[in-house]
Amino acid sequence: MSANITNSGEIQTLLNNVAGLNNADGDPRIKEIVRRIVSDLFTAIEDLDITESEFWHGLHFMQAAAPELILIAPGLGFDHFQDVLMDAADEKAGQTGGTPRTIEGPLYVENAPVSNGEATLVSDEEGDPMQVFGVIKDEQGAPIANAKVEIWHASKDGGYSHFDPSLKEFAFRGSIITNEHGEYRATSIMPSGYACPPGGSTEAMLKQLGRHGNRPAHIHFFVSASGYKHLTTQINIAGDPYTFDDFAFATRDELVVDANDVDGVAHVNFDLSMVKAVDASDEQRSGRPRMAG
Ligand SMILES: [Fe+2]
Repeated sequence: MSANITNSGEIQTLLNNVAGLNNADGDPRIKEIVRRIVSDLFTAIEDLDITESEFWHGLHFMQAAAPELILIAPGLGFDHFQDVLMDAADEKAGQTGGTPRTIEGPLYVENAPVSNGEATLVSDEEGDPMQVFGVIKDEQGAPIANAKVEIWHASKDGGYSHFDPSLKEFAFRGSIITNEHGEYRATSIMPSGYACPPGGSTEAMLKQLGRHGNRPAHIHFFVSASGYKHLTTQINIAGDPYTFDDFAFATRDELVVDANDVDGVAHVNFDLSMVKAVDASDEQRSGRPRMAG
């Protein structure tokens, strides 16, 4: 396929005008991105003979799907792709090592309660008791005191506080400052995996692709410490039917962790290894918009 019409002078001029390249106003970066994305879509429409009908069906689907775009993105691999791009950038800069990153997902909430060393996460739900704990270390294995370990996970029914109105404010969310031994510990209940909202746009899209919309039981982490690169990751609990079949592609082998029963409490032991920051911006998480609680 050669996209002859898209490559014609007429359409190239149209694309330049669409992206505002014929004026001196606006934001050059946005213009560059819009020019490229619209051009790539024109090419796809031409190459694949996307009909007018298909185009408008697609557009109306996206309009209806707007509230779920943050779920559709991981479902289509965009979140994992960004991880792979950041891994490659780290490799190029000689900054490999440490616990692997994986996707943040859309359900982090700022301002969760802060505790020193250990925390019992807010909950008003009965569930299977769980403790998630470990040591934050540098790459030589030395513990990092005063690291900030932010944890968030779903309820036993797969809901997240601040998104599922049946859950208390900051339920299953906490921020723990490691003790002098680099240790953190959170007492909570075992989260459940979850599926995309039934009847929603993500589910409808995945069905068209012959896919499911399930995630395995998992626990999210942000870890930050002075002098170290911010780490966004999550662990998947071993043994979940979806541990290696996550619709959001977040599973990484090093991030699959066993839950071991100790006197009726599931113990999830996860030590994390942090990489030295090169500059102060490395210590910060990405600037994506996030909900504040
Ligand atoms: Fe999650």
